[in-house]
Amino acid sequence: MNKLASRLVTLLVSLCMAGSIATAQTSPSHAVDAEGHQWWQHAVFYEIYPRSFADSNNDGVGDLRGITSKLDYLKDLGVDAIWISPCFPSPQVDFGYDVSDYENIDPMYGTLEDFDVLASEAKKRDIHIIFDFVVNHTSDQHKWFLDSKSSRTSAHRDWYIWRDGKGPGEPPNNWVSLFGGPAWKFDPVTNQYYYHFFYAEQPDLNWRNPAVKDAMFDVTRWWYKRGVAGFRLDAVETLFEDPGLHDNPILRPGKNAYGDAIEENKYNTKLPELHDVLRGLRKVADESNAVLIGETWTADVAELNQYYGEGNNELQLPMDFLFTMVNKLSPAEFRKQIAAVDGASGWPTFVISNHDIARSYDRYGDGQHNDQIAKLMAALYLTLRGTPIMYYGEEIGMKTTPPTRREDVKDPIGRTGWPEEKGRDGERTPMQWDSSENAGFSRGTPWLPVPATYKTHNVAEESKDPNSVLEFYKEVLKLRHTNRALLDGNYTPLNESDANVLCYLRVYKDQGVVVALNMSDAPQKVSLELKGKGFFSAKSLLATGKSAAKGDEVSLEPYGVFIGEVTK
Ligand code: NOJ
Repeated sequence: MNKLASRLVTLLVSLCMAGSIATAQTSPSHAVDAEGHQWWQHAVFYEIYPRSFADSNNDGVGDLRGITSKLDYLKDLGVDAIWISPCFPSPQVDFGYDVSDYENIDPMYGTLEDFDVLASEAKKRDIHIIFDFVVNHTSDQHKWFLDSKSSRTSAHRDWYIWRDGKGPGEPPNNWVSLFGGPAWKFDPVTNQYYYHFFYAEQPDLNWRNPAVKDAMFDVTRWWYKRGVAGFRLDAVETLFEDPGLHDNPILRPGKNAYGDAIEENKYNTKLPELHDVLRGLRKVADESNAVLIGETWTADVAELNQYYGEGNNELQLPMDFLFTMVNKLSPAEFRKQIAAVDGASGWPTFVISNHDIARSYDRYGDGQHNDQIAKLMAALYLTLRGTPIMYYGEEIGMKTTPPTRREDVKDPIGRTGWPEEKGRDGERTPMQWDSSENAGFSRGTPWLPVPATYKTHNVAEESKDPNSVLEFYKEVLKLRHTNRALLDGNYTPLNESDANVLCYLRVYKDQGVVVALNMSDAPQKVSLELKGKGFFSAKSLLATGKSAAKGDEVSLEPYGVFIGEVTK
């Protein structure tokens, strides 16, 4: 995990210490099923970082037409919904997470018409489109902020957080930005400071102002009408700040990668008011049968439950990042985390990587069995009860490839924090489509270099190899879509004291599936003790290599996977 992710961990730990802690595109076939399941509960989501997915005009940056050209690939893979990281007009300081117009497409990615084509082509294939909604802040080039900073009496002044300094040259309090330096920037035009949790180019919106709320809610309505089926809400926990601006406590002596004090974000994150906003956004989403996914860095499941809301009236899919923090192949730790999330008050959401977190291929790989371990991880998060969100390239075993020299870094935090924090370029490299130049991503110069592994790990090569990571992903996804026990079955852990094999049963009515995952580099044999669960033997549905079952005993090769149907 990179330093940013570990800062987020620090942030949540600190909160614990403080004791706080379409017209949507949905077709009728995706409405609630006979048993009350919503379309997003059976869907497999796939995150696309648009800069890096497919470049249709060969300018080195991916675009919407590129995504459209890959819809057949995604359909064939088994994807039901794509979450596209921000593609709105933006100065790209934070690669789109600094939005200067919420109701358009950045020319670098195409046009609104390109979006319409993407939406209609996706609809033909029954693929939903999820946009990334940057709710906490805008770009400093957004017209709202330009007006806000123009004078103390401007119409949009109170749309952002402006305050006097404590004294000459002194910011209003000690809050530091997650991306380094003070969280306040002085503006000499009006002699006040504005607040930014992230970069100074990302001023925080003032969600206490009802006009902000109305304008932002309208943005979601606008996109639902245009065919978007939901949003991934960015940085929800930073929506509100303590109006009294109390100084944050210092967690411990020392400095972080950016040379700042190590603070507990007690007064500027996770304020209870944010839940009112989530309830409001959910009401609007419900009118379009849309889904809200949350970037929710929670300390524990109790906190995750708050994001579902009492009566499940906030986010349908708050991501469980605690799962991504089990950073070793430890059955005990996964068991603990799965059980916790399985007991949450809403439908679980599993991720193993994203554009802010080092790729799972390296986090779990041992350098020798990486492909096998990638299959093991796929078998894990794609067979649990809940909705999985894949990250582009996981399915072909893409590797985190961070820059080796500071001058090559594109992500600004990697330059400020070098060498401790190398930024997030490593997990954002171009998708590897084939073994031609630039991995078939672009005929121009890609905005980030293509990892050397593209020669072996790419869609074209792996499609020809029945033992590839890609083919394994396809098989698991196919099984997941067609097997009711995997879709809706209860989760029951098996062999809970086994230190090497993670084993569980998914049962739906009288249908059961067992999953056995060998997290060790030695062969393992496990007796599933199915009798006690009302089943007898297991019959293979999908297994790697020689992993197999005899009766209710499963033999697993090193890092082997066995998924079997259990019979009565
Ligand atoms: C979380 C996003 O995932 C990250 O990439 C971005 O830098 C920050 N929020 C700020 O929007």
